[in-house]
Amino acid sequence: MTDILIRRARKSDLLAIQRLLSTYFLDMEKLETEDFVLAEINGKIMGCAALIKSESHGRNFLEIHSIAVHPNFRGKGIGTRLVKYLLTTIEDLSCGLYVRTTAPIFFEKLNFKKIENSEKLSLWEDCEKCEHFEKCTQHVMNYSYKF
Ligand SMILES: CC(C)(COP(=O)(O)OP(=O)(O)OC[C@H]1O[C@@H](n2cnc3c(N)ncnc32)[C@H](O)[C@@H]1OP(=O)(O)O)[C@@H](O)C(=O)NCCC(=O)NCCS
Repeated sequence: MTDILIRRARKSDLLAIQRLLSTYFLDMEKLETEDFVLAEINGKIMGCAALIKSESHGRNFLEIHSIAVHPNFRGKGIGTRLVKYLLTTIEDLSCGLYVRTTAPIFFEKLNFKKIENSEKLSLWEDCEKCEHFEKCTQHVMNYSYKF
């Protein structure tokens, strides 16, 4: 396969990220372009994922957000490389790393474990307010790491 460059996003990548996320009806919400890492193939952005610091009910934690790989390049290890790259950028994991995802099997392969759905309520205020909470298809997962 063609060489894939995994790199941090720059401000000028904003449109390419938005275009990729829109493929899956995702948007950047409150994320900054610089929160993302990207997979670049032949100068085109074919994958993205963000790592953000979140805060809820006075609790701080890390969160993987807005991961997407272009439909033509899924299943080729790009998502895995994006998450692994983000993991290398974390200096302190003591506050916990979480993800809300509709792709739990993908994250299980990266050592994330499903946790109780009710945990969403203590982690995300938008879940608390969401009218679709009971039928939400997003699993909440926690990264379990070993030293
Ligand atoms: C989820 C996503 C980012 C994974 O990226 P990817 O580059 O396709 O994943 P990889 O090739 O690194 O896959 C790694 C492993 O996870 C599996 N996997 C990937 N996506 C999966 C999914 N949606 N469901 C189940 N397993 C999945 C792969 O089969 C592979 O398994 P293997 O190691 O046994 O071969 C990508 O499929 C995607 O963009 N999906 C649409 C957007 C989306 O659902 N984003 C997540 C919302 S939180």
